[in-house]
Amino acid sequence: MNHENETGGPHIIVLGNEKGGTGKSTTAMHLVVSLLREGFP
Ligand SMILES: Nc1ncnc2c1ncn2[C@@H]1O[C@H](COP(=O)(O)OP(=O)(O)O)[C@@H](O)[C@H]1O
Ligand SMILES: [Mg+2]
Repeated sequence: MNHENETGGPHIIVLGNEKGGTGKSTTAMHLVVSLLREGFP
């Protein structure tokens, strides 16, 4: 996996929703776990 974007900076993934309790933190946690399992960094 390429860990830098085309400008050499970090990727920023935004998880947004107007409403609370819609799974933003849960999704963020699953993203982190899946990236770590893929070998990130
Ligand atoms: N895909 C999903 N299916 C069912 N429940 C979910 C799902 N995603 C999150 N939840 C539950 O919804 C609640 C709020 O999730 P959370 O990630 O804390 O939301 P947010 O960060 O957007 O406020 C938690 O109890 C979480 O376990
Ligand atoms: Mg949250």
